[in-house]
Amino acid sequence: MTVAVIVGATGAVGEELRRIVAERDLPVDDVRLVASARSAGRRLPLRGRDVEVVPLEPEVFDGAAVAFFSAGGGISREWAPVAAERGAVVVDNSSAWRMHPEVPLVDADVNAEAVGEHPIGIVANPNCTTLTITPVLAVLRDLFGLTAITPTSFQAAGGSGQRGMDELAEQAAKLIGDRELLRGGSRTHALPAGEVFPRPLAFNVIPQCMGFDEDGYTVEELKLRNEPRKILGLPGLASHPTCVRVPVMVGHSVSVRAVCERPVDLDAFRDALAATPGVTVLDDPASSAYPTPLELVGTDGVFVGRIRADLADPDALLFWSVADNLRKGAALNAVQIGEVLLGA
Ligand code: A2P
Repeated sequence: MTVAVIVGATGAVGEELRRIVAERDLPVDDVRLVASARSAGRRLPLRGRDVEVVPLEPEVFDGAAVAFFSAGGGISREWAPVAAERGAVVVDNSSAWRMHPEVPLVDADVNAEAVGEHPIGIVANPNCTTLTITPVLAVLRDLFGLTAITPTSFQAAGGSGQRGMDELAEQAAKLIGDRELLRGGSRTHALPAGEVFPRPLAFNVIPQCMGFDEDGYTVEELKLRNEPRKILGLPGLASHPTCVRVPVMVGHSVSVRAVCERPVDLDAFRDALAATPGVTVLDDPASSAYPTPLELVGTDGVFVGRIRADLADPDALLFWSVADNLRKGAALNAVQIGEVLLGA
């Protein structure tokens, strides 16, 4: 009997994991749903049945082939080795193991072959913002030799889980009923302090995703610098990231300027993108066709538009990329990795 475990089954990504496991018919006979002791006993829908949530204990991994972790970095750091010890291969959604030298970091549409080598029984799922650009960067690498990127992200509240979405919805509801407050300015201190985001997010833009390091970069920006390097096998890729939180519930967008070794041929780039699994080109300026997060929630893969030359540098180009951060950016890619592990 083949068993999968979902740790964090009650969370925002956990909910997508349950949906995608069913949609894609992951070849497992049983799925165990795991969350904190607070949720133990709850019943959640899965593949047409109600499945009871069980608390996180070592025994939940016994006999499991694969364990999807989406309960935060602390849980992954402590419990992924426990799951691996008990024989499950962990597909980890947190950042805890991504840069570990013995853990493959896999975008299933770019470097699925890396899944095969998992010496400590852990495979890492990249950050949702990383996954929004890596298939596009892989095309540039292969066609023109990629040397540098300047990605600027526009990240949804859902990137901070269910609590992030709840905080944005509460702030928006409060602001929308108060036109004076909505205009901003000195009265905004009357807003209740958020717990998830460092500033009010509703009707605002926050140039901070997670904490700062000593160089003034945020943790999220360092992920957007380091993770594409590992996935693409380009350790020297220069990167100049800025990560911004925007009042969008679900769906991350990234504006990217990319510099290559050779002059960029836009037609060849578009043709190669159109033939790339997991990528959809949506790019017609004349009809205002380009991807937007609100309109793409619930879709799979990465959507690319606003493809244009850099008018100052023939070796460079710009593009705009959008993905549902809970699907391709988390749950879908994790399930795709699971499929490779299970030989599906
Ligand atoms: P719970 O709902 O019982 O707190 P999100 O990313 O949307 O915030 O979801 C976080 C997920 O991680 C939830 O499923 C949550 O379960 C789970 N989780 C949080 N703390 C623990 C824990 N100590 N043990 C197991 N699961 C946890």
